[in-house]
Amino acid sequence: MKEITITTQFSVFDSVQELPTDIQDLMQQAVAIRKNAYAPYSLFRVGVALVLDNGKIVLGSNQENAAYPSGLCAERVAIFQAGAIYPEAKILKMAITAASDNNKTTTPIPPCGSCRQSIAEYEIKQNTPIEIYFMGEIGAIYKSASLKNLLPFMFDKNFL
Ligand code: THU
Repeated sequence: MKEITITTQFSVFDSVQELPTDIQDLMQQAVAIRKNAYAPYSLFRVGVALVLDNGKIVLGSNQENAAYPSGLCAERVAIFQAGAIYPEAKILKMAITAASDNNKTTTPIPPCGSCRQSIAEYEIKQNTPIEIYFMGEIGAIYKSASLKNLLPFMFDKNFL
């Protein structure tokens, strides 16, 4: 028996002001679209802004449903929208912010497992990394240089 150790790496920014200016702008767009979340059940609002290599910005917010599993996370709303409208474009950067109507989220809130798997599909498809920045409502922002840091042992088409 032997053990393997996998390390992943993130950059930590203490506040939005510390981010590069293009990412400050992207995060502000994620914050703005967060208000459009349809989240009457969880009262938890997530906003996402993507920048593509054609210069377009694509936005998303979570959309819930009375039949709970029929709703969709903000990250997938955004990346599926990008894939649907600009199928040839690469996603360069992704900004995510999550806020609750019940309490202030002060720690970075990462994409859920299903969203990580969906983002992985696009990263593999385009063969270039997607930078992912995620935060709560206030406080620090974590940056991952690629989805791979968030999903060790990712399942992809090469296993099929
Ligand atoms: N949610 C997202 O939009 N993204 C995530 O990565 C985690 C969860 C949404 C789904 C649901 O509408 C609410 O947050 C509570 O889970």
